Amino acid sequence: MEKNPKNPPIDRVDGRMKVTGGAKYFAEFEMPKMAYCVIVGSTIARGSITGIQTKKAEASPGVLGVFTHLNRPPIPGWDSPVTGNANGPAPAPPSGGETYRILSGKEILFDGQPVAMVVADTFERATYAASLVKVSYAKQTPHTEVGKNLSKAVTPKGPRFADYARGDRKALESAPVQLESSYSIPIEVHNPMELHGILAHWTGPEEIMIYAKTQGVMATQQAMARAFKIDAKGIRVHTEFMGGGFGMGLRTWPQEVATVAIARKLGRPVKLLMTRSQMFTLVGHRPYTLQTIRMGADANGKLLGIVHEATAETASYEDFTEATVNMTRFMYESAYLETRYKIVPLDRSVPIWMRGPGEATGAFALESAMDEMAHQLKMDPIEFRLKNYTETDPERNRPFSAKNLKEGYERGAKAIGWNQRKSEPASIREGDWLVGYGMGTGTFNASRGQATVRAILKSDGSLTVQCAVTDIGPGTGTAMTLVAHQVLGVPLDRIKVEYGDTTLPPGPMQGGSTVTSTVGSAVMDTCTLIKKELAQLATGAGGPLQGQNPEDLVLEEGQLYAGNNPSKKVSLLELMQQSNVPVIDKTQLSKGGDEQQKYSMYSFSLHFVQVNVHALTGAVKVTKAISIADAGRIVSPKTAASQMIGGAVGGIGMALTEEALIDHRLGRFVNNNFGDYHVPVHADVPAIETILIDKPDPYINPMGAKGMGEIAIIGFAAAVANAVFNATGKRIRDLPITPDKLIGLV
Ligand code: MOS
Repeated sequence: MEKNPKNPPIDRVDGRMKVTGGAKYFAEFEMPKMAYCVIVGSTIARGSITGIQTKKAEASPGVLGVFTHLNRPPIPGWDSPVTGNANGPAPAPPSGGETYRILSGKEILFDGQPVAMVVADTFERATYAASLVKVSYAKQTPHTEVGKNLSKAVTPKGPRFADYARGDRKALESAPVQLESSYSIPIEVHNPMELHGILAHWTGPEEIMIYAKTQGVMATQQAMARAFKIDAKGIRVHTEFMGGGFGMGLRTWPQEVATVAIARKLGRPVKLLMTRSQMFTLVGHRPYTLQTIRMGADANGKLLGIVHEATAETASYEDFTEATVNMTRFMYESAYLETRYKIVPLDRSVPIWMRGPGEATGAFALESAMDEMAHQLKMDPIEFRLKNYTETDPERNRPFSAKNLKEGYERGAKAIGWNQRKSEPASIREGDWLVGYGMGTGTFNASRGQATVRAILKSDGSLTVQCAVTDIGPGTGTAMTLVAHQVLGVPLDRIKVEYGDTTLPPGPMQGGSTVTSTVGSAVMDTCTLIKKELAQLATGAGGPLQGQNPEDLVLEEGQLYAGNNPSKKVSLLELMQQSNVPVIDKTQLSKGGDEQQKYSMYSFSLHFVQVNVHALTGAVKVTKAISIADAGRIVSPKTAASQMIGGAVGGIGMALTEEALIDHRLGRFVNNNFGDYHVPVHADVPAIETILIDKPDPYINPMGAKGMGEIAIIGFAAAVANAVFNATGKRIRDLPITPDKLIGLV
């Protein structure tokens, strides 16, 4: 990582706490008389319950309750009609259709569907009792395969998903160079290290204390308010630390709501902690998706048309949608452009956003096709992209707020040693290993939401910054600390950030790469208010810098001075003490203006990889990786680089190992455990170099910073597939690129 002398990297502010066990995750909280809840999942994927025997479980030691569809405690937002309730149904699904209403009836909609929730005084007793619940079913044949159910595909409602076309189709039809390729990505699961669950306790008739694993404490609070038809004010949700989310914590899941209902019924705290295999079924996944790209170009490499189609799975009960094809509309200049997106309802649990949702899938197809076309044209893949580069957004016909991909292509090519790449595939061999190079581009929407931040500066020199946002791991607390430090000059070790609790000022959920832009700007705005007040104190009558223009004052390392006369200065603490102001306490709501209407705002990324492919076994190793972020000004260089590295590791998994497999005869997973679902381990991951372009976006927000959580993975899998093609001459269009797809190269 290159260093910016004006913004030196700092360690994660919560790093020490995390590695020493001081950071408390939801499952580590204990409460007096706490009970444990364990889920029993269905063993069929479609059909209905014909009988359920719970007596043995109920009689098992320590058991406090066995809840099924026959006796599930009320969830008023589901159980009574919700028409006319301004709160809406509880909790509403994120895209469309119906949320699965847990333990509501006999019908089985997906494999692993909770059919009973067993509560006991210890986790072990609950787990044992759960094994005693016997369920009989009337089975039906499940439909779980996208490819065999294409006749059910529908275009989801909403303008984002409607069929899209612009330009003249004839340009594509008459293009001298043509390409049509189909791609697939398997089901992938988030599977963060921390297991999912919730701990809930009703502390009053309309008061709940909740420790959850959520990417948004306020979103969980709202969902529970709707579910139980009580005022959100009575519900406190706490998630200060989260052991990874990647999207699975962006909604409140039915089993969380049921646990809260059970806690009310039993009148004691109840903790639900899911198993690893339940993490495959009950908290969403990246949907299996089929894609086809048709592309046409002229002999000089000008794109004349792109048609990008995607068909993804969803559940029979809920529509899950993501913008899989949308980046194709603006990434490159093309005379004709068409996209289509469809979803197929299956007897499966519903997908949810997973890191780089939509774009990570779409970029695999688009960036693979770009490489295929470059090869057909006998052009260098970077040159081909530059040939079709666009400085303005061709979809919306307006400028990008900032786009520095040209610089990225240049720096990435240099860093990976692109000049060593041979355009003829399978040209470089080192012993038994074939060597290849590839690259891929990523993009994700950049925006700024709304947040309220409170900042409290005390005359003892301490600063506390508060917002209800959750930090799921990227280093939001560190970024907030740095922004406050940059505005107020308070030393880093005197700044404390507080987040992840609904008692704090309202903040957004952590998702969609928006938090640094949103909360960082709010920290900046609130701290700027404090700075203004300090300037008034200093320059006002009797102040130590009386007569100076408050606009000219500079704050650095605890000192306030006139920019044009640095010898006249006063320390913040002296100023506050002299002025008899023990504390300056400001709260400010902060949000963007209409910049989003004037500019197209995206973050961009580039991934360059070198792979070695074993000529005999087909094993692929990523031997070098460079990930580049064009995400505006970088607020926290060290955590930003870590964010890119984490995304690249996820990208290696997506490219080479990750695949949740279903036995379609049964509609069940066969590898729902970490032994068989392969994520990259240390030996699979080279030292990943990150390049942060670090040029402010002039329009997005006053900091000029955009998000990078999603772009870290988007485009990476294509870079690997393209490198594998360059190494071997074999084009793998179905992820993951496992050795069986390459074996027999010699
Ligand atoms: Mo991200 S998929 O918005 O957690």
